[in-house]
Amino acid sequence: MNIGIDKIGFYAPHLYVDMVELAKVRGVDPNKYIIGIGQEKMAIAPPTQDSVTLASNAAKSILDEDDKKKIDLVIFATETGVDHSKSGAAYVHRLLGLKPSIRSIELKQACYAATAGIQLAKGHINLHPDKKALVIASDIARYGLNTGGEATQGAGSVAMVISKDPNILSLEEPNTYLSDDIMDFWRPSYSDTAMVDGKFSNEQYLRFFAETWREHKKTSNLSLEDYTALCFHLPYTKMGLKALRTILDEVDDETQERLKEHYRTSTIYNRNIGNIYTGSLYLSLLSLLEKSENMKAGDRIGLFSYGSGAVGEFFSGILQEGYRQHLHITSHKELLDSRQALSVREYEDVFQERVPTDGSSASFDLEADPASIVLAGIDNHKRQYVAK
Ligand code: CAA
Repeated sequence: MNIGIDKIGFYAPHLYVDMVELAKVRGVDPNKYIIGIGQEKMAIAPPTQDSVTLASNAAKSILDEDDKKKIDLVIFATETGVDHSKSGAAYVHRLLGLKPSIRSIELKQACYAATAGIQLAKGHINLHPDKKALVIASDIARYGLNTGGEATQGAGSVAMVISKDPNILSLEEPNTYLSDDIMDFWRPSYSDTAMVDGKFSNEQYLRFFAETWREHKKTSNLSLEDYTALCFHLPYTKMGLKALRTILDEVDDETQERLKEHYRTSTIYNRNIGNIYTGSLYLSLLSLLEKSENMKAGDRIGLFSYGSGAVGEFFSGILQEGYRQHLHITSHKELLDSRQALSVREYEDVFQERVPTDGSSASFDLEADPASIVLAGIDNHKRQYVAK
């Protein structure tokens, strides 16, 4: 059965900080951030946006009534969930006005969880071809002010509808995956910022890519030549480039140029939003699809997913006839163009303005956030979400 991504959209908060400004204030050469890390703008989430609202705003932008009738599985993938017990999917389900007869769950494995979600959804559709699944990746990447990871923060969400006979990308077999218990990046339950062994995390990302790619070539009988483009999990856009460079010598110069050009296009959204953890790979796919003028139906796209801790997976998909008509190119452009720049001082203030963690109540200024779904505050330990 032909199963894959039928719809895809993203949401990023309306605030960002310019990486050149951040570099100047941090006393760093701006080229380190722009070229060395490969980031230009970093999305900042105000207190009215958390992983639930980002996810709801992303999903709301792509769903129609037919989807709402057919969706019977909601998978919310995040590593910045808002509750140790209740899933973000339960809130999203209500905020989107989905029907009651649905399974809604949250999945966690660092930046890999959305990939697990898509593969589980694929199995679900195989069993129930008349249904659809909603898979949402949503995160706020926080390392802390003045930390080594600060330039690789971000916030946003990617929502995807998985169905049979998909309009955008048909997912292929085989998938090759790998798990190993390592401490490259993690966030203990008591911390709202991530801990990371930066150099080790880069090395492990490359190791997982090398192993899953090698295995994929063996089991699929495909070679790099067979791929029009590769998309990578992008904690920062230079990271995927490092991985791509390790395999470019497997093809001739012309193919190398094609892959490098598509790689550049696949990083445009990520460069301007930052790391959105589990949604990053899919934001990169969306960037490629929406920003490339020369992708076409039948092209094969390879996807490398990596979630610290760690799980990696390499898989692929085939672009479907007419896929461009099912993208939201104009509204995504408007979303990014209408964002508001913060000074570094303002970014630091927003970064430190957090939802209370001591059980006290709070209410936030909803007028300041143009998003249609927002967190209004906390009352009696309960998060108050509002669909404006
Ligand atoms: N002009 C151009 N380039 C410059 C430059 C300048 N003036 N100054 C420095 N650079 C280059 C460096 O040469 C280096 O390039 P290479 O990586 O190609 O060698 C690059 O800029 C970064 O410089 P450093 O290595 O000195 O940077 P750093 O020590 O500040 O750390 C980092 C970079 C490790 C990525 C850090 O930001 C970090 O820890 N980030 C979070 C962890 C992370 O993203 N890890 C990725 C793999 S884990 C994962 O994928 C899961 C996830 O989402 C977190």
